[in-house]
Amino acid sequence: MKLFGIKNRRAGQLDPEKLPRHIAIIMDGNGRWARKRGLPRSAGHAVGAETFRRVATYCKNIGIQYLTVFAFSTENWKRPAEEVASIMELLEKYLKEAIETMERDRVKMKFFGDISILSEKLQNLIARTEAISERFDGVQVNMCVNYGGRDEILRAARAYAADYAKNGTALNEDTFSRYLYSAGLPDPDLIIRPSGEMRLSNFLLWQAAYAELYFTDVLWPDFDEKELDRAILSYQKRDRRYGGVKGKST
Ligand code: IPE
Ligand code: IPE
Ligand code: MG
Repeated sequence: MKLFGIKNRRAGQLDPEKLPRHIAIIMDGNGRWARKRGLPRSAGHAVGAETFRRVATYCKNIGIQYLTVFAFSTENWKRPAEEVASIMELLEKYLKEAIETMERDRVKMKFFGDISILSEKLQNLIARTEAISERFDGVQVNMCVNYGGRDEILRAARAYAADYAKNGTALNEDTFSRYLYSAGLPDPDLIIRPSGEMRLSNFLLWQAAYAELYFTDVLWPDFDEKELDRAILSYQKRDRRYGGVKGKST
């Protein structure tokens, strides 16, 4: 069977019928990973970028439909200028490479966040990756850059208010969610945060309403296919009730 071929033997433990449709990851712990090795934080970000590539490929291979990753938050601008610059350079490098391979690999990309304040070069690369993504079907990776959950909700509220003034669109959860970056996508089923922190740090505040949360002490650069399997296995044991009483508790 295609989903669980030779390459992904470890996935054998997973129940293919109960895979999360949408996984979201807070890619945290790069700085601590570097510090532990006496390396500059930028070295942690570089290895973290490779981890992202690896995990995205694995998600595609096991049949996850949507992967949303937190790469840079609206609060991360507080960091030293050289660290911010090194993250932006890595993003540029990643996108240049992705442009060459994404259509062949069937990995679509979207960006969540206000990208208008990024460099023109980055904005052009982002526009190109999004345009290429229109041309084919495949796993969708949403990369959150200059993203904040509160910022996203405020922007949506402003856009909704402007539309309301024009045509009085009724406000409910469904109509409001169409103004979010995630418009049209299913909410994340599973949110993973490595690095030992147990908080959302402004990630997907609206969409996380009924996500299953998974925390691990592993630092993002050390995260791999095995760790993802662990997270999915934990998810597969959960009883999702959405406030009701169905499932194991009945
Ligand atoms: C996550 O790793 C990457 C970004 C936030 C850009 P960190 O850089 O936050 O790593 P720690 O948390 O300091 O270890
Ligand atoms: C969250 O991690 C943002 C990203 C991983 C991009 P942070 O390292 O910025 O979060 P805090 O400061 O520990 O809450
Ligand atoms: Mg951090």
